[in-house]
Amino acid sequence: MATKKKSRKAKSRAAAKKPTKKVVKLAAKKPAAKSANGNGLPRPSSKPYGQAGKALEGVRILDFTHVQSGPTCTQLLAYMGADVIKVERPGVGDITRGQLRDVKGADSLYFTMLNGNKRSITIDSKHPKGKEILERLIKYCDVLVENFAPGALDRMGLTWDYVHKTNPRMIVASVKGFGPGPYEDCKVYENVAQCAGGAASTTGFREGPPLVTGAQIGDSGTGLHLAFGIVSALYQRIRTGRGQKVLCAMQDGVLNLARVKLRDQQRLGHGPLTEYSQHGEGVAFGKAVPRAGNDSGGGQPGWILKCKGWEEDPDSYTYFITQAPVWGAICDIIGKPEWKTDPDYATPSARLPRLKHIFATIEEWTKTKTKFEVMEICNKVDIPVGPILSMKEIAEDRSLRETGSVVEVDHPTRGKYLTVGNPVKMSDSITEVKRSPLLGEHTEEILRLLGYSGGELDAVKTSGAITAPEKGRAQAA
Ligand code: COA
Repeated sequence: MATKKKSRKAKSRAAAKKPTKKVVKLAAKKPAAKSANGNGLPRPSSKPYGQAGKALEGVRILDFTHVQSGPTCTQLLAYMGADVIKVERPGVGDITRGQLRDVKGADSLYFTMLNGNKRSITIDSKHPKGKEILERLIKYCDVLVENFAPGALDRMGLTWDYVHKTNPRMIVASVKGFGPGPYEDCKVYENVAQCAGGAASTTGFREGPPLVTGAQIGDSGTGLHLAFGIVSALYQRIRTGRGQKVLCAMQDGVLNLARVKLRDQQRLGHGPLTEYSQHGEGVAFGKAVPRAGNDSGGGQPGWILKCKGWEEDPDSYTYFITQAPVWGAICDIIGKPEWKTDPDYATPSARLPRLKHIFATIEEWTKTKTKFEVMEICNKVDIPVGPILSMKEIAEDRSLRETGSVVEVDHPTRGKYLTVGNPVKMSDSITEVKRSPLLGEHTEEILRLLGYSGGELDAVKTSGAITAPEKGRAQAA
């Protein structure tokens, strides 16, 4: 009995040190149902919350991502504690390092804000020595994440068969523009995905052209989906012991975020969409879901209204929702108490054909208050409203700084910059946001980790596999 207890303790200590690998072993040896100890899990840690390591500690990511979608995914995994090793082309790196540059000679904000908490190694993946380093990395890591154009990974020789044979536990996670089908070979950027995923055709005003939104739902949205797929695959691997392919198509990611519009498409077959303001305006619906301007996507009508100072400040607006249960409070606040009992206004269905007039009347009131005053007055009586915040206001917002949602980090070449911290807050896995790496900053450190040293390391250094071509040749000479 005593020995049993001791070995369980030892196992849980080991699992706490190296979660992924050890948990795999534990689960494989002891089926959860037979475990005497809570589904085969180690005993609850006695360490204070926040001091028992990070959620993904021990998980190693071979990060072959570039631009935005893939880097968003791997940055989130890094925020959760994974060791993310970003592989970049020698001398060039992720193309975004140089895109939209604001500080001469320094990595751009485009790059720095998407690659925090990662390590960078430069490897020419088409160089024979580069292939050898990659083989070691594949054996060393748990997940390979990539968002190259279709076929690029295969052309590097990193086919699923090769990766799976080299490390059967490896999860290979990819972002592509489209899933299998007529467009599978297409290269895709953010706005293409917004258009193909149904967001653009349903965004904007009825009278105007389709619109893309500033939120990067195609890139960052798909990266977020991929991170969910990877974490799920890691969890499944605890039972199966093997890796799998995880694919997120950007079209699918956008569609998932635009699902309420597919809902409306089907409702349209059963009659007009009564909550769309065009219904109240007597404009007939066509065959497809129309653009709904600033209509609320849910069952509670809403619109964007001007606030005090709108003439000078383009962001002096509020979103105002006429939620049915607080209709009485809305009538009192805007000085229309008679609307509470007037049959033309008293019920949600009576109000639907009059929404334009109702919002115009509410706006007469909001125009007398700042967007923050509207927020304060309305929230006291549970009326859902939201100020239209500019990026300047968000950058300066104290509470976002305090929660770590906006973080200032220091960078050796560009100085201090703001980045978006982890939007997911966990009580036992605290995110510490770190700056992005310089190109190849950790090359030697990672090579040593992979077992390179002495003459072997020197040979790699002069081979041209980790340096830009001209540098490699010069060094080798
Ligand atoms: N060493 C050597 N070669 C490397 C390398 C390295 N470390 N890293 C990349 N390359 C090579 C690739 O092998 C590829 O070469 P090949 O086409 O000759 O085989 C080449 O660099 C370019 O890769 P590619 O992905 O085609 O880049 P691109 O700039 O032409 O296209 C995208 C960019 C984003 C359009 C494309 O990658 C794509 O469609 N990705 C999937 C969808 C996606 O994520 N889009 C959103 C991005 S935010």
